[in-house]
Order: sequence, then structure tokens, then C-alpha cells
Amino acid sequence: MTEVKPFELPDKIPMHVAIIMDGNGRWARARGLPRMAGHRAGVDNLRQVLEACVEFGIQYLTIYAFSTENWERPVDEVRGLMNILEEVIDRELQKLDENGVQLRHIGRLERLHPKLQEKVRHAIELTRNNQKLVLNIAWNYGGRAEIVDAIRRIVADGISQAEVEEDLVSRYLYTADCPDPDLIIRTSGELRVSNFLIWQGAYSEWYITSTYWPDFNREELLKALCDYASRERRYGRVPRPVSPK
Ligand code: FPP
Repeated sequence: MTEVKPFELPDKIPMHVAIIMDGNGRWARARGLPRMAGHRAGVDNLRQVLEACVEFGIQYLTIYAFSTENWERPVDEVRGLMNILEEVIDRELQKLDENGVQLRHIGRLERLHPKLQEKVRHAIELTRNNQKLVLNIAWNYGGRAEIVDAIRRIVADGISQAEVEEDLVSRYLYTADCPDPDLIIRTSGELRVSNFLIWQGAYSEWYITSTYWPDFNREELLKALCDYASRERRYGRVPRPVSPK
């Protein structure tokens, strides 16, 4: 029997990984469970992925947890997801803080229930000096809404036409203090961007796996990192010449 070699941690680790955590509903359906059971399994899975990110030396992790379009889901599912966010903050905040995770939010916070907004703000404030891993939670996030919000603030700040450059726009996005994502992972096999980091992801590498999010474990992340490490990022330039031996 041929031995299957485990994946080894590559030298080239992305600084910023972003994940579209897709497939919770299908994971649940495959087990005859309600959709919310899939979302709960998805949250449980987050813990080991977070631990693996710290272990692998990833510095920024952005997770797409609730999009501006997700409000169109059945009321019970929307309510269930909001409850999950609240429970996660109540249950995990202290541990996240002790483990050096800096929580940030990207998206339109103002549409959330005031009590939930308060909890999110408190979590951000409490963890703001942590250095191990920056965790951006995209909640009520949409890439187009983000660009609209940036333009509104640029106009409100009286920025002149000549001052509008790519760097300036980046500084007006929700992710102003973050490097662009090096690697965007999408689970469950869908081949779509789904309004996620559409500005920041201009030159990100994509990794798509058919694995549903609740099953995307440490090994799967390692596999994605190995795939990333094997790529040459060219940013529109030609390949680097091979140096003579
Ligand atoms: C996509 O799967 C998943 C979501 C829209 C929600 C993801 C949310 C979580 C895992 C909870 C995260 C919570 C916190 C606090 C960060 P889907 O429902 O679209 O799956 P399907 O395509 O198989 O139906």
C-alpha cells in the first residue's frame, strides 16, 4: 500500500487569509438536521480553525459570517444567526482575549439590534491591543455596500477629485488597517465571489474546496496553505526569470 504523506507546513505562509464559510445548510441536510444545526456546527468548527491559524503563523483572518444579502433568508434563520453571534460573544470573548485574538467587525453594524451592537463594540474595545491574531468578522457585510460607504465618507470629508487614489480608497474601507487578503478560501465548491472583499481581493489567490464548512478542519487548512505556497503571485507581471545555476 502506498503511504499517504501528511501535509507539511510550507515556508511561505499568507499573512491574511479570508474565508467564505459556505455549506452549513447542505452539511445539515445531508444529516437530516435543520439548517441551524449546520450553522452551530459551523461555529464549533471555527475554534479549531482559529487555533490552527495561530499555530501556522497567520496574522489576519477574515470570516464571512453574515452578508448584506442574508437578511433575505427566512426570519427564523436570520434570528438564529443573530443569536449565534450574541452567544459566541458571551461565551467565547474571555477565551479569545486570553489567547491574544483581536476582534474587529467589518460591515454595517447599525442595522443590528442595539444590544448586539453594544456587545460587538465592547468585544472590539476589550481586545484592541491583542497581537496574536486579528479576527475580522464580516457581519452584515457586503463588498458593494463597503465601497458605497467609503465613497460617502470620502465625499463627507471634502476630499478633492485629485486626491482620490487607490490607496486613499483602501483607507476608507472597513479594512483600513489590514493588508489585503493573500488567500481567499471558499468551502462547499461554489465558484462565486458573493460580494466578498471585492476591492481588497483584486490580487488574492483563491482556493476552492468541495468540503462543507463544518468539516473544514486543520488538515484542510494546511492543504490550502500548501496549495497557496506552490503558486507564483505575479500581480499582472511576467514570471520571474529562472536564475542560472
Ligand atoms: C453559509 O452556509 C453560511 C452562512 C451564511 C453563515 C455562516 C455563519 C456561521 C458559521 C456562524 C459564524 C458565527 C460567528 C459568530 C462568527 P449556507 O447556509 O449558505 O449553506 P448552504 O449553501 O449549504 O445552504
